[in-house]
Amino acid sequence: MYTSDRSGDQETIFLKNYRRPAFLIEHTDLWVELGEQGSEVRGTLDIYRNPHPDAPHEADLVLDIDQLEVLDCVLDGRPLDKDRWQLTATRLRVEQVPDRFQLVTRVRIHPESNTSLMGLYKSRTMFCTQCEAEGFRKITPYLDRPDVLSRFTTTLVADKAKYPVLLSNGNLVEQVDLDQGRHRAAWEDPFPKPSYLFAMVAGSLSQVSDRFVTCTGREIDLRIYVEPKDLDKCAHALTSLKRAMRWDEETYGREYDLDIFMIVAVDDFNMGAMENKGLNIFNTSAVLTNPAITTDQRFQWVEAVVAHEYFHNWSGNRVTCRDWFQLSLKEGFTVFRDSEFSADMNSRTVKRIETVRNLRAYQFAEDAGPLAHPVQPPAYQEINNFYTQTVYEKGAEVVRMQATLLGPELFRQGTDRYFERFDGQAVTIEDFVGCMQEVSGRDFDQFMNWYRQAGTPLVEVDDRYDADRQSYELVFRQSCPATPGQPHKEPFMIPIRLGLVGHQGDLEFSHEAGQGTELLFELTQTEQRLQLSGVTEKPVPSLLRDFSAPVRLNYAYRSDQLIQLMRADTNGFNRWNASQDYALSELRNLEQAGTAGKLDKAFIEAVALLLTDDQLDPAMVALMILLPSMETLVEGRQGIDLEAIWQARESAREQLAKALGEQFKATYMKLASSEAYAPTAAQIARRSLKNICIAYWLKSDDPAAIDACHQQFMQADNMTDVAAALGAMVNATQASATTLADQCLEHFYQRWQAENLVVTQWLAMQASRQAPGNLARVQALLSHPAYDAKNPNKVRSLIGGFCTLNPDNFHHKNGSGYEFLAQQVVKTDSVNPQVAARLVTPLTKWKNYAEARSSLMRNQLAYIASQSGLSRDLREVVDKSL
Ligand code: TRP
Ligand code: ZN
Repeated sequence: MYTSDRSGDQETIFLKNYRRPAFLIEHTDLWVELGEQGSEVRGTLDIYRNPHPDAPHEADLVLDIDQLEVLDCVLDGRPLDKDRWQLTATRLRVEQVPDRFQLVTRVRIHPESNTSLMGLYKSRTMFCTQCEAEGFRKITPYLDRPDVLSRFTTTLVADKAKYPVLLSNGNLVEQVDLDQGRHRAAWEDPFPKPSYLFAMVAGSLSQVSDRFVTCTGREIDLRIYVEPKDLDKCAHALTSLKRAMRWDEETYGREYDLDIFMIVAVDDFNMGAMENKGLNIFNTSAVLTNPAITTDQRFQWVEAVVAHEYFHNWSGNRVTCRDWFQLSLKEGFTVFRDSEFSADMNSRTVKRIETVRNLRAYQFAEDAGPLAHPVQPPAYQEINNFYTQTVYEKGAEVVRMQATLLGPELFRQGTDRYFERFDGQAVTIEDFVGCMQEVSGRDFDQFMNWYRQAGTPLVEVDDRYDADRQSYELVFRQSCPATPGQPHKEPFMIPIRLGLVGHQGDLEFSHEAGQGTELLFELTQTEQRLQLSGVTEKPVPSLLRDFSAPVRLNYAYRSDQLIQLMRADTNGFNRWNASQDYALSELRNLEQAGTAGKLDKAFIEAVALLLTDDQLDPAMVALMILLPSMETLVEGRQGIDLEAIWQARESAREQLAKALGEQFKATYMKLASSEAYAPTAAQIARRSLKNICIAYWLKSDDPAAIDACHQQFMQADNMTDVAAALGAMVNATQASATTLADQCLEHFYQRWQAENLVVTQWLAMQASRQAPGNLARVQALLSHPAYDAKNPNKVRSLIGGFCTLNPDNFHHKNGSGYEFLAQQVVKTDSVNPQVAARLVTPLTKWKNYAEARSSLMRNQLAYIASQSGLSRDLREVVDKSL
């Protein structure tokens, strides 16, 4: 009948064209009849003209639609003639509407064949929804924009045997049995919300429940809904949820507002999780844990995602975004909140290091590539493409800088003011920063450049010490490379936390504003000097402590100075950073020297010293001896010669293993433990060091290491140790270890084939295998029963894993890896555009590579671009990268 299709148009939406909605929706009532061959949705909208003086006056009502078969339209009880409403691919226009009216639409949709995983779809046996950013228009015609807030009631009707559990946002108000084995449930959400926070679920689900008593004594019913077989995997998520609820009360004064909070776990999901009001929907990978199937890293990730989605209840739901250009208003702030939560629950320094490592490897790369955009983008074609490292992670850094500049008390006053003033409203990033400005009396004009300019600033530092005067001068220069559409950048306001390290640790010094051992210096100009006095010895500057701003910092450290920082800096983050700078310079040397290159003796000694330092947190030792990842090594470089970088890194690992094999072994033995598994920071720290040691030990060619690895694989009671042992064997070079690895992989699959989340890890492990010719193995796995091209987790682990965790094979100089990716991207695009647009990322970096590779990569991008009928998602990414 009136089926619409939105492919084809590639319109750009601009922030500067924002206009208030002409109409608002007071109440939204959905009646959904779920069926196996199509479902029907009746939407009843109480609509009125937006009374705001700045709202445009429009005679016609225009609603968003996406792949809806519109059956009929009723205005104030009268069925509308076909000439009063018009359909295009993306709009339903109702002509000449009154100032206030009720519109009822009936549509037919097909969740059973919806593979985009947006709107209403089926994941295995259950129905579920994903509406952010623009999925609600796939369910019912609507003003599908975040600045239209409405009160929702939802009625679900479904077969009772197949779908005994029927959920939506808010409180359950009615549950009734109907004839023909059907039943219905009605839910009512008292809080007005934008459509992107709507959710519903129907399935045969079991629940784990608990309760939480809020700071004002209200009792909240907590529920996690999963498939019955997963009931034993919810404890950690539940504990994390309760901790997050308490933390948000204590840290931000935020209390939960409904009487019930539900989490539903689904297998097929485009991202980690979604903060729908009172009904969060999670990727099973972000909820389910138990020691036998979940690694330490995963435990910590689940804790962070559960907290993140919970924190959105205030930063996102109660105070929401005016439009999607403000995405970082909720995402940057919420990532900052969840990272502080994780820091409080675990080790603050370790958490900070992990955050910065990822930021440098992925966000810096994004900021230096063709898809670079400001934290507040000025334009987009497809908003799904802007759920990025920049909006999330750099956005969090920008909030962190505000917290740093204000200090904890003022920052809390700022967030209190923000939540209070804008509760129930859809606001902008400027509204948030405005609160910080008001409570502090500071001017944040220049600071706004962090939101409006893309690119990673570079800060170059020189210094001069005058022993006679005991004075020390630092000279800072800032610049920022051009990014698409922004050839010239204004200077940023860069907070640089710094100290001076002498032989015995931090030095005292005096400056304009006082004295002490640490200073928060504000770099606002292109070039700026800092004079320090009373400096009793020639210091090593410890700059950008705790990574106080998301910049690249250049200071020409000598290796003995880096060793001094690694040993004596009181800032744990900077001790780690010095170890990384040291490793980076060693790897650069090896790269230049080629196969004959030798690691500096002092570097090997520094690693040895770390291994025997009993004062240090083992997690710190692990992080410090871990060489920078390939992503970090190629990031920010041009004309990349991949073999040289890869070989340098492999050679460094081998040299360390050979030189310190005995010590790696000894440390491994020392850290072995028979303690019952718990995902605590202390245990995780020990396991992380232990497992780095076994990998190095294995690389030292000691045959005993292979036995130890095998033993750990067979006997460990937790996935962290099992996966670490298997991962080490899988990437070992000795023939005996490779054969063993094959057997172990097979054994692993036999043991775990019923656990989807483990099968996903199994796929990723094989994808990452560095053995020559591994592409053939990956290709064969595409037709393995364990693989599913419609499941984003599986696609990401196998195809994504091969292209990101296996640089040697993916970047094979015959171009086979690139061709493989291009073909898979095109295939995936017809199934799930969001996943395809992310999967293509490695190819978008073609300009960074040296000639032969860069044209091979570009050719594959061009091949994708030449396909007709690409999704808007993939089209935008590919066109911008060519
Ligand atoms: N808002 C969600 C989060 O931060 C993420 C999200 C956005 C999402 N769009 C999505 C999740 C689409 C799944 C599908 O945490
Ligand atoms: Zn979020």
